[in-house]
Amino acid sequence: MSDDSTAWPLESRSGLPGTIAYLRDTYPAPTWRAHRNFGELAAFWLQVHASLRDQGNQLQQITQAFREGTLEANAFQQAFVPRFNQFLQHLEGHHQIEDSAYFPKFRALDPRMQHGFDLLESDHHLIHGAVLTSLDAARQLVTALPRGGSAVEAAREGYSDATERLIQLLARHLADEEDLVIPALLQHGERSVG
Ligand SMILES: [Fe+2]
Ligand SMILES: [Fe+2]
Repeated sequence: MSDDSTAWPLESRSGLPGTIAYLRDTYPAPTWRAHRNFGELAAFWLQVHASLRDQGNQLQQITQAFREGTLEANAFQQAFVPRFNQFLQHLEGHHQIEDSAYFPKFRALDPRMQHGFDLLESDHHLIHGAVLTSLDAARQLVTALPRGGSAVEAAREGYSDATERLIQLLARHLADEEDLVIPALLQHGERSVG
C-alpha cells in the first residue's frame, strides 16, 4: 500500500483503512460516549460535526422546497442566503482551527497519526475547492432569481449539483475524521491535545 495520502482520495473512498484508523477497532463508535476518557472536547467535536450535517440538510431542504414550488423566490432567498453564508463560515472556520490548532497536536501523539491527519488536511483543501464552486453557483442563482423562468431553473440545478457534491464530500470527511479523532482522544486523554 502506498504511504501517500493521495492513495485514499476523499472523492472515491468509502472509509479509512484499518492501517490509518488504527485505533478504530479498539474504540468502536457505539462505545465512545461510555468511555471514561470521553470528555468535553470529544463531545464538542461530535456536536460541531452534527451541526454541520444539519446545516447542509437544511440547505438541501430549502432548495428542494423552492424546486417543488412550496417556497417562492423571495421566501427562498430570505431563507437561503443567511443559512448558506452561516454554513460556509462555520465549515471554513472549523477546518482552519483543525489545521492550525488541533491536527499538529494529534500528529505529535504518535508517529502513526501522521498519515491520517495529512489525509484529513488534504480533504480540507479539496472541500475548500468545493466550497468555492458552491459559493459561485449560489451567487449565480441569487443573481438569476429576479429574472425567473429557465434562467432560475438552470442556475438552481447548477447550484444543487455543486452543493450536493460539497455535502457528499463533507459527509465522508466528517465520518472519517471522527474515526481518527475520537479514538485518539480516548486512547491518549483530552489533555494530550488540550
Ligand atoms: Fe476536518
Ligand atoms: Fe471536523
